[in-house]
Amino acid sequence: MKENFLWGGAAAANQIEGGWDMDGKGVSTADCLTRGSLTKKREYTDGVLPGYDYPSHEASDFYHHYEEDIRLLGEMGLKCFRTSIAWTRIFPEGDEEEPNEAGLEFYDKVFEACKNAGIEPVITLSHFEMPYGLVKKYNSWLNRRTIEFFIRYCETVFRRYRDKVKYWLTFNEINFMSFHPEIGSGLRGLTQKEVYQAVHHMLLASARAVCLGHEINPDFRIGMMMAYPLSYPENCRPENVLCQIQDMDRHYYYSDVQVRGGYSAKARKFWERYGLTPSMEPGDEEELRAGCVDFIGFSYYQSNVSSVEKGKERAAGNMTGGVKNPYLKASQWGWQIDPVGLRIALNTLYDRYQKPLFIVENGLGAADQLEKDGHVHDTYRIAYLKAHIEQLKLAVEEDGVDLIGYTPWGIIDLVSAGTGEMKKRYGLIYVDKNDDGTGTGKRYPKDSFYWYQKVIASNGEDLDGQE
Ligand code: BG6
Repeated sequence: MKENFLWGGAAAANQIEGGWDMDGKGVSTADCLTRGSLTKKREYTDGVLPGYDYPSHEASDFYHHYEEDIRLLGEMGLKCFRTSIAWTRIFPEGDEEEPNEAGLEFYDKVFEACKNAGIEPVITLSHFEMPYGLVKKYNSWLNRRTIEFFIRYCETVFRRYRDKVKYWLTFNEINFMSFHPEIGSGLRGLTQKEVYQAVHHMLLASARAVCLGHEINPDFRIGMMMAYPLSYPENCRPENVLCQIQDMDRHYYYSDVQVRGGYSAKARKFWERYGLTPSMEPGDEEELRAGCVDFIGFSYYQSNVSSVEKGKERAAGNMTGGVKNPYLKASQWGWQIDPVGLRIALNTLYDRYQKPLFIVENGLGAADQLEKDGHVHDTYRIAYLKAHIEQLKLAVEEDGVDLIGYTPWGIIDLVSAGTGEMKKRYGLIYVDKNDDGTGTGKRYPKDSFYWYQKVIASNGEDLDGQE
């Protein structure tokens, strides 16, 4: 791998920080999501209500542990740490004229700690959250004014951290909007037409942020971020092949705009067919064209299968799931594990866009066991990560894909976005915190921590580990 390859780890403010109302922070949409489980859906309440259990409120308490946590990440040898800024720490309600200084100071300290540990921050501007105030008062992304508020927030953090942060991502897994719009917008019960209107505003906001960021610091590298739920046709039946193309088109809808600078012909036909054409203002299309991203960030956890055949057994998964693949095993949460799929994803995205790629999430959610002696023997996680790193190396070294870095998800245990559980752990660092509120909050490096330390120190050459 090239010398400056960014081996790292990833997290997000609302899943790791806690301190949900500390130092002037406002309520974010993520603060209104209750804890769920594999069998119990998370509920999105109308604000923070008494009697509900909201896991983001304490999460892993990175807010009070960031120094220790970043020191541990440094010990692991991380070159970069992807996390997000909680918009509500900076603009608590979203529409204030002036930012909350205490919120800005918190991230000053986080980025300073990263610098001291030799870690490059990679910052998501909005990771599945926004000020709840903007949802209540303005109807979130359905309202064009939200673009203005988002840009005010971006300008504030771009200027403040101009010399501290180089890598930025606009919206986390923006393509989630087509499947769970309430996660990205805080709005429930949207019609399809409203979804695509809100999405148009988000895409414009992203494009405007890219232009603004480049103006503030031409060295900024600003990327998009999509979930990449790679799908295979179930077999060579032509209808299934077409079905796979159509399934993937739902995701390219977003990346085509953010990477190429405009809606595809297919997207326009889709609007016409279903009456979904969003209203635009003069100049919107030019703005989209001007705001192309510098790189493509994506998450990859599992692959899916597309089929027109009814009644097939289905698998769970990030976002959509799909028909079960008989060639793959699945995680405890039913996500199908497919390392070769990562090489396919890298090839497909690079062939399509010829832009640098960045794997900003990948990992295994598992119910780890903290032993009495403080060890966590997560050999299954080592096996998962090793198999995926082998494939990304092949994509780079044999297929010539331009890959900036790799940041395994939930590098420190955090709250699951899908289920709201702590129990679904991704970390290489264990956090002693349980769903019932018990636990000391203490951090314990898992076996995978020491394994990844070797991987990074050898720049991906030494992948041996106990599996
Ligand atoms: C991605 C998100 O969808 O997958 C993360 O960007 C999320 O926020 C991750 O945590 C894993 O999903 P889950 O549901 O297992 O937490």
